[in-house]
Amino acid sequence: MTNRFAVILAAGQGTRMKSKLYKVLHPVAGRAMVQHVIDQLNTVKLDKMVTVVGFGAEKVKEQIGQVSEYVIQEEQLGTAHAVQQAEDLLKDKEGTTIVACGDTPLITGETFQALFNHHEQEGASATILTAKTDKPAGYGRVIRNDVNEVERIVEHKDANEHELLVNEINTGTYCFDNQALFAALQEVSNDNAQGEYYLPDVIEIMKKKGEKVSAFLTPDFEETLGVNDRVALAEAEKTMKKRINEQHMRNGVAIIDPDQTYIEPDVVIESDVTIYPGSILKGNTMIKSDAEIGPNSEISNCHIGEGTVVKQSVANDSKIGDRVKIGPFAHIRPDSIVGDDAKLGNFVEIKKTVLGDKSKVSHLSYIGDAEVGSNVNIGCGTITVNYDGANKFLTTIEDDAFIGCNSNLIAPVTVGKGSYIAAGSTITEDVPEDALSVARARQTNKEGYVTKLKNRKKD
Ligand code: UD1
Ligand code: CA
Repeated sequence: MTNRFAVILAAGQGTRMKSKLYKVLHPVAGRAMVQHVIDQLNTVKLDKMVTVVGFGAEKVKEQIGQVSEYVIQEEQLGTAHAVQQAEDLLKDKEGTTIVACGDTPLITGETFQALFNHHEQEGASATILTAKTDKPAGYGRVIRNDVNEVERIVEHKDANEHELLVNEINTGTYCFDNQALFAALQEVSNDNAQGEYYLPDVIEIMKKKGEKVSAFLTPDFEETLGVNDRVALAEAEKTMKKRINEQHMRNGVAIIDPDQTYIEPDVVIESDVTIYPGSILKGNTMIKSDAEIGPNSEISNCHIGEGTVVKQSVANDSKIGDRVKIGPFAHIRPDSIVGDDAKLGNFVEIKKTVLGDKSKVSHLSYIGDAEVGSNVNIGCGTITVNYDGANKFLTTIEDDAFIGCNSNLIAPVTVGKGSYIAAGSTITEDVPEDALSVARARQTNKEGYVTKLKNRKKD
């Protein structure tokens, strides 16, 4: 089996993005572009992966981690110069080297694999991944000779008017015979419109040496999109979204309006889940079968149980049980655990709270830093007063308790099993099991007092 190596170009600043963030770190479907490239390349068995970093090197390395080795390109003198930085790590090795760009986030592992296979079957020194488009502006054009063989690649800025009409583009991904690549790189000059050392120039150099140069035309231009500005970034987002959503639909997920549903790549969704428009599912979210999500819900790093309904709500870093009803307009903040058959109604916020099975917080409440048992009913407008300006304190509400409307539970405090809190109470001390606690001023009615007042005004 031929050795396979990869060089990923990720040193550029990405001036055209007009951003503080380095280009290859811009996210598509919530994941840095260069990470998509690495993840897809990793589906092919590789013997070595080298990423060329420069601008934002530390940040890019932090993003990619240990799966790759790194070389630094101190000055961005062009893509050929970038590949040359990997010379010490690769030059003498026998095998095939794929070069991919960190700004082409949509190329799939299948395409990388197909390019390797084509290249190795052809026994070529270089194989360019090419695509056809009616909008080739900005891309290098693939120039073929009379017998349709690839001769060279000309950059958009260096192309003459005939060359500009060519609709076959260089995707920026290539396979090379490793040793032939590093030999040819020695001969690349920067005598061109941008004064850069262009990697595509190795094609013409190899061709002139009589080496075999091939092209592998992928039928899917969409997949090869190079992201140089925010317009292309939005286009990449759209394509990625479509790809992810279609995969879920094929797996049995009902997505009512795929154009308005945003699902990140690591989200897992079981069949017979329904997702309504305006939903955003992020991170390591898992949604079990028969759940209904949305409209307009944002869920990040959550486990959502079977048959649970989440309407117009936001949930982060939490575990929600089966058959739970959430929303409309609930906010589940990190580290919460919601039991089965529970309910969190409108304008309810919970944070770092365990809510037991069948417990209900139906309206207008804040429950934070709390441990709530099962079958507890928390009335409208209840607040756990968990913060004194410096520290947070725990509220414990045991099973079967009933908290009357508009109660303040001043933590640390425990409300015992089965006890009742009268509406409007401010609870500052623990409530024993089975007790009724009333903590509010008594009502006094002054009969006839209004008329007396009015008469006094007339005098
Ligand atoms: C490049 C190709 C072009 C191709 C297009 C496909 C060249 C000269 N042109 O153009 O033929 O159609 O990609 O998308 O190669 N980079 C470095 N160091 C550098 C310069 C670039 O690491 O000195 C990295 C960038 O971070 C980027 C990648 O190489 O990830 C491509 O560079 P970019 O400037 O975007 O090239 P294009 O103009 O898009
Ligand atoms: Ca580019």
